[in-house]
Amino acid sequence: MSDDPAALFESNLHSLRLIARGKVRDIYRVDADRLLIVASDRISAFDVVLPDPIPGKGMVLTAISNFWFGRLGDVIANHLTATDPASVLGDLRDREIVRDRAVVVEALRPLPFEAVVRGYLIGSGWKDYLATGMISGVRLPAGMELAEQLREPIFTPSTKAAAGDHDENIPMAEVERLVGAKLAETVRDSALELYSRAAAHARKRGIIIADTKFEFGMTPQGELRLIDEIFTPDSSRFWPADRYASGSSPASFDKQYVRDYLETLDWDKRAPGPRLPAVVIAGTQRKYREALDRLTGQQ
Ligand SMILES: Nc1ncnc2c1ncn2[C@@H]1O[C@H](COP(=O)(O)OP(=O)(O)OP(=O)(O)O)[C@@H](O)[C@H]1O
Ligand SMILES: [Mg+2]
Repeated sequence: MSDDPAALFESNLHSLRLIARGKVRDIYRVDADRLLIVASDRISAFDVVLPDPIPGKGMVLTAISNFWFGRLGDVIANHLTATDPASVLGDLRDREIVRDRAVVVEALRPLPFEAVVRGYLIGSGWKDYLATGMISGVRLPAGMELAEQLREPIFTPSTKAAAGDHDENIPMAEVERLVGAKLAETVRDSALELYSRAAAHARKRGIIIADTKFEFGMTPQGELRLIDEIFTPDSSRFWPADRYASGSSPASFDKQYVRDYLETLDWDKRAPGPRLPAVVIAGTQRKYREALDRLTGQQ
């Protein structure tokens, strides 16, 4: 699929048993309590994995997510363990394959919804607002513009769609029905606090975090943990603050660049996805790197 030998489209490790491939990450079983999550260079758009990887993207995602987990550990405990991925891989080639793109995490039971926080009106939130005046049952003022900042960030959970399907925004009441009122409230409050902390940091670095998605999981003892990835360009919309204006779709450091290219094609948004021109691959690579660089000050 990939023409770039430096890209990791798919990992096939020998040391551990593969238990799942997500659209972007490959998940391996370490032992009863732990998983190895490998971030590949796959990119998905409109929920379809594209045939061309973005070389180095998995490393960028891993670095960004680890940066935030480190900064935000006081808001809520997360799934990271201190285990070095190399230490659970007997095969030396495997260590090379996952270098800088893997984490060893606690194996948790994911809660059956996506915890989305929005600070701006865009994407499926904008669509729902136009259709109903609400997102996830939260009513918004009339007459808002595309990409306008909300009066305050809102929690707009969504379904976890099965493969091939798209997520749908659901009201808080549905989350309460799924996991109970108390847990639903803790998740909402944690998600809003994480967003406000990260958004404040990013803003100082010239980035607006327009919206973001978290996943939460439960330990066997019934404790809540933040899992998956956080505040990456795959799970969030990052806008350069100096180019932001409400009323039009802003420039971004995230997947929007690829989506915009795909919108120029005659593609029905079903698998298989189209090939990406080299210039779009390079442009995406640059945008992801710039997000890492700006947010963390590293490269
Ligand atoms: N600590 C954890 N314990 C168990 N599962 C986890 C943990 N962290 C992340 N996951 C799961 O690993 C997967 C990450 O892979 P990826 O992001 O590629 O999947 P996705 O395409 O977003 O979703 P899907 O799983 O529907 O394909 C997600 O299904 C996520 O729920
Ligand atoms: Mg995911």
